[in-house]
Parts: sequence; C-alpha cells; structure tokens
Amino acid sequence: MTHKKQHYLLNRAEEACMLLKEHLDQDHVVRVISHNDADGISAAGVICNAISQEGGKFHVTMVPRLNEETLDRLSQEKYELFFFCDMGSGYVERIGRLKGQAIIADHHQTMDSTGDDEETLVHVNPHLFGLDGTRDVSASGVTYLTVKPLNKVNLTGLALVGAFGDMQYADGFSGVNQTILTEATEAGVVEEHEDLKISSKDEPLYKALAHTFQPAIPGISGNPEKSQTFLEKIGISYGIKFTDLANEEKDFLTEHLTRINPKIFGSIYSMPQETPALRNLEDYALILDACGKNKNYAVGLSICLGERKSAITEGVEFLSKYRESLIRGIRWISREGSQEMDYVQYLYTEDKENKKIMGTLASLGIELEILNSQKPVITLSRMHNLVKISGRTTLEMTQKGVNLGFALEQASKSFNGAGGGHNIAAGAVVPYKELENFKNLVNDIVSTQVS
Ligand code: C5P
Ligand code: C5P
Repeated sequence: MTHKKQHYLLNRAEEACMLLKEHLDQDHVVRVISHNDADGISAAGVICNAISQEGGKFHVTMVPRLNEETLDRLSQEKYELFFFCDMGSGYVERIGRLKGQAIIADHHQTMDSTGDDEETLVHVNPHLFGLDGTRDVSASGVTYLTVKPLNKVNLTGLALVGAFGDMQYADGFSGVNQTILTEATEAGVVEEHEDLKISSKDEPLYKALAHTFQPAIPGISGNPEKSQTFLEKIGISYGIKFTDLANEEKDFLTEHLTRINPKIFGSIYSMPQETPALRNLEDYALILDACGKNKNYAVGLSICLGERKSAITEGVEFLSKYRESLIRGIRWISREGSQEMDYVQYLYTEDKENKKIMGTLASLGIELEILNSQKPVITLSRMHNLVKISGRTTLEMTQKGVNLGFALEQASKSFNGAGGGHNIAAGAVVPYKELENFKNLVNDIVSTQVS
C-alpha cells in the first residue's frame, strides 16, 4: 500500500520534472523560492544544483514563510517557471494565478485545494497521496524526487541533509527518506557506520558533551558544569579529548552515556567525498540550521552549491555561536520554567537572542526533561505589535491526537493571524493584543484533540 502511495508521489514528481525540463530546454531562468531553515536551504541546494548541472540558470530567494505580501511581489515578476520548495501547498490557487507556470515541492499538511484543477502548476506533496510529510520525507526529499528522473543520484546526500534538519530521523529513516537512503548507499554517495554521536571528538570532553543536542543528553546537554561533574563522577578527566582516550575509556564513557540516552550510540551517515566539516549529514544539517538561525541563508546556500572555503568557515562559526545561545537558552528555561495551562504550556520572551531559537528550545526543553512532556510547548516571541509562535510536542502526544499544525492554524486565523505546520511542530503569527485570547483558544483546541 505504502509502496503504491510512493509510486503515485513519484509519478507526480516526474510530471514536475517534465515541466522543469521543458523550461530548461527553452533556456528560461527558473525562479526558486524556498524556506530559510535547514530543510529549505537543502531543498534550494538540491534544485539549484540540479539546474546548474543541466546547464540552466536560476534566481533564488529564501523567505521565512510564504505570505500574501511575498505572493504580491512574485505576481509582478515575469518568470516562465516558479519553483517553490518547502512551501506553497497552502497557496495553490494564488500560485496558479502567477504569470508563469509553477512547481510546488512541499511536505506540509494543508487545508488548501490540491491544485488538481490548476493547469499552470504541478503540486508535489506527500500528503496528497496519503503519505506522511512529517516523518517520511522532507522538502529536500520532495525536491530531489522532482529532479530524480534527470539522474541526480549525486544529490541524494543533500536530500537527506534536509530530512535531518527537519528532525525526521528517529532511530532510522522511514518511507521516502528510507528509499532515498537506499539509493544513496547503493550508489556509494552515502555510507553508514555505527559510532558515538557526540558533537566533537577533538574538543575537551565536557564541552563536546555539553554541546551535544542531537540526541539530547538529559542533565548534560547545554550544561558545561554538569557535564564536568558527570565526567568526574565516572572517573574520566573532563579536559581530555575523546580521540585521546584509551579504547577501554571510550567504551566505558559510551556505556555510561548510553544509560542516559541509548540514542547516543547509533548510525552515522556520511558522504565520503565531502569535505570533513560537512561529511557527516547531521553536522551538515546543523551548520545549515545555524546559518538559518543567524539569518545568513546565503552562506548556507553557498555551502550547498559547492563553496568549500569561506562559507564553511562562516557556517562553522555560526554553529558555535548557535550552541552558545542554546546553552544560555537552556539555562533560562531551567530557571524560569513554563507557564502551564490545563493542556498546553507557554514560554514567553522579548529577548532578542532567545527569539531566534525558541522552537529549538521548546524541543530541547522536552527532550532534556526540563519541561513537562505531556503538554505541548508553545513559545511566544514578541515582535512589536505581533507575536511569533512556535509549537513543539512529542510523537507520543501526536499519537494521542495532538495536531499542533491544525491547532495553530485554526487559533491564529480566529484572531487575524496565520499559522500551520506539522502535527509535531508548527508555528503562527498573531497580533500582540490578541495574545491572551489566542493562548486560551489553543488550550481549548488541544483539549478537544486529546479527548
Ligand atoms: O518548515 P518545516 O516543515 O521545514 O519545519 C519543521 C520544523 O519542525 C523544523 O524546525 C524541525 O526542527 C521541527 N521538528 C521538530 N520535531 C520533530 C519534527 C520537526 O522540532 N519531531
Ligand atoms: O517557525 P517554526 O520553526 O516554529 O515552524 C514550525 C513549522 O510550522 C514549520 O513547518 C513552518 O513551516 C510552520 N509554520 C507555518 N506558519 C507559520 C509559522 C510556521 O506554517 N506562520
């Protein structure tokens, strides 16, 4: 059954590829619009690399999200083909009215039309075929499917980087991600081996452990002091580098860390041909994520497009800054806690640095067992007259019926805002003056979802 669904998705992607090819053959510049997070940057990387490899040209813009204003701007543009990555499924009709034809390569659930009646566009989204766009394929994966008929197996690694960026890896890949992984390993583009998943092996151990967020190590990630105490307690010098440990010490440390979080030891996926900083797909995704969080999307995209010098240095610096902000943020939530309602909990901030990382802090708050995992975490970042919202919950809560994408979409629309996303992770924007009403409504909606 799932196989059949993937087949339908592939057919749709092939249709998109034919449209892309038609335009490339006519030497049209492809207008690419993508999301500014790790998955969106990887997706833009996939399509832009594919276009270049075919000898074509593109004009790319990264945006935080698609809205009426961006679409108004795009409707003035006279391109023959628009290519939307990681967005667009919520605006199918509007996109159908653009001056050129369009391809939408998205993986978000949507309440909008399917686009089947639109003659000027091809809509590729796993949800249209009953597949899961939250776990089984990311935007970079969907985008990869649209160029796969052009023999782009070299882009399978980047297609999986986006899946890591969107946290779709959970003890393995599933669905379309797994299909892409199989293709990648068979072609030798990606290799798999088992290893300890700590942030670095050539930094003092206490730092390497405190900087490990994927997977999170409760009591240690984000907390250099506790990381030192942990190492002292098990009798390993905290300043030593992992690479300098004796083999028995490495095993001993691994054993202790595995007791805290078994996911700390597992499969590592790497691109053997890549430069060391980007070789591990999860590290690659983290660097792109850090570029996104620092609002330096161009650096992230340059990395994806093959810039191997200054862009990587910059990306690595952003990552180290990002990790420091996470440590500060984790301290903040450990100190302040959340504001709990009956069915959800809130984190409110006006702090400039925290605002950039609220979604990640919500996830980490749950994973590090600082916040109650039984209530979705809704973060609220004040931006002048608006509040930017990020919601995160667990697989367990989604299995109980929680769907944050629908909850935030419905609640924000009731107060002149906009929102959406996935069941497990979603976002919205609402006017600040409606904040209290919005908070109550989200609590009410989630209460109906779990009952
Ligand atoms: O826009 P988009 O769909 O790409 O973003 C999904 C967001 O959801 C990412 O920020 C990703 O990190 C987050 N996510 C999460 N936990 C999951 C799955 C996704 O926090 N289990
Ligand atoms: O911004 P954040 O990382 O919290 O977004 C989580 C998910 O919610 C993403 O998939 C994003 O595309 C979606 N979202 C949305 N509308 C918004 C904000 C976020 O669909 N206004």
